[in-house]
Amino acid sequence: MKLTIIGSGYVGLTTGACFAEVGHHVVCVDNDPRKVETLLAGQIPIYEPGLESLVKKNVAAKRLRFTTSTEEGVDHGEVLFIAVPTPPQADGSVDLSFIEKVAREISQFLDSYRVIVDKSTVPVKTGERVAQTIRRYAKPGVEFDVVSNPEFLREGSAVADLMKPDRIVIGGNTDRAIALMQKVYEPFAAPVLVTDINSAELIKHAANSFLALKISYANALSEICEASGADVIKVAEGIGADKRIGREFLNAGLGYGGSCFPKDIAAFIAIADQMGTPFTLLKEVQRINQRQIDRFIDGIREALWVLKDKKLAVWGLAFKPNTDDVRSSVAISVVEKLVSEGADVTVYDPKAMDKAKELAFASKVKFATSPLEAAAGAEALIIATEWPEFASVDLSELRTTMRAPMIFDGRNLIDPVAAADFGFQYRGIGRGV
Ligand code: UGA
Repeated sequence: MKLTIIGSGYVGLTTGACFAEVGHHVVCVDNDPRKVETLLAGQIPIYEPGLESLVKKNVAAKRLRFTTSTEEGVDHGEVLFIAVPTPPQADGSVDLSFIEKVAREISQFLDSYRVIVDKSTVPVKTGERVAQTIRRYAKPGVEFDVVSNPEFLREGSAVADLMKPDRIVIGGNTDRAIALMQKVYEPFAAPVLVTDINSAELIKHAANSFLALKISYANALSEICEASGADVIKVAEGIGADKRIGREFLNAGLGYGGSCFPKDIAAFIAIADQMGTPFTLLKEVQRINQRQIDRFIDGIREALWVLKDKKLAVWGLAFKPNTDDVRSSVAISVVEKLVSEGADVTVYDPKAMDKAKELAFASKVKFATSPLEAAAGAEALIIATEWPEFASVDLSELRTTMRAPMIFDGRNLIDPVAAADFGFQYRGIGRGV
């Protein structure tokens, strides 16, 4: 099929590459000429395992191309996917101006039937608005349908998630549009759930909120485990073994961050408030998430007494492993907090250093080139992102290079028994045993 993706960010680019990989002919549109140039040169602007080779392969096979022209995109695709940012506003509600702008741009070039798909994460009822906008600006009588098709990929495993999805959600109002969408996804051999547009839009916010709820549940348990002398990892294993609960997303730590959960939970709260059906449970999810960082910093302060001028090492800046994304990263919040209290902080991250160096806090910290270099002479080590390479650092070398043997493990990455064997004082999250 001929498909067009408008917006070549995380979701747009990965979706475009995966559609091309299964044989579709894909045009990716982006209004940033520099980004398009980079992509045409076979480079990708993000670190995502497997994506660069997929883009290169499909560009070479002429199934994937990039352009700045929306007209070219509308002309090419039977189905037009909108994958532009939906950033948060100060009150938590979603800024839909990019979606509205793309809807207007598309309508200008529409002259025969197209399916216009919302792939971006949007509040319920956005599809109705997109349809109204296109109707208002398009030539009279031109046929189109609007569909909601939320994306559930995770950064760091985006290609695998897209190629082998748990489910595809297609929210549409006409058989014609739904049939075309089913054809788009036929090569993926994944379960397809067909719904109305509003339900599909709600599924996305409801899914992300539920995952965040699981994380906050584990984090609330971690505090109880610390107070009662229990181990949150064992508790998560014990409850997660029940298939109805499931072990995933019950890892206690510094809380959730990234470009999706914090924004989507705030948006869902704002949407529910606007509709007069407040979702107060989610406010508690947010509160627990913030409390996890505060408790962690309190623990460091309590153990080290004074933070001012303390030489501290922080491992991890990305919001999670296998990505260079530092947007709303809890690791960065931790570093900022330590710096604001006058600590002398050296950081290391395997992939996220370049992106972190663009942020305001960067001038106030030192960047090391390896985990051990960051820890050299440190009076404490803070683990803020659970990169696998941190787990394999030689604890005896680490002990030798640090000035004082103290580890604050915000992601429960290191085995407390091994840490103690090498003479470290160790504090994890929810490990009261
Ligand atoms: C999340 C969802 O998992 C995807 O399904 C969704 O498509 C995506 O948002 C989106 O809306 O675009 P992502 O933000 O890439 O994906 O990352 P996750 O793997 O979900 O992790 C989010 C945060 O939760 C990270 O900060 C991670 O460290 C934290 N987390 C995750 C925990 O603290 N504990 C856990 O058990 C799991």
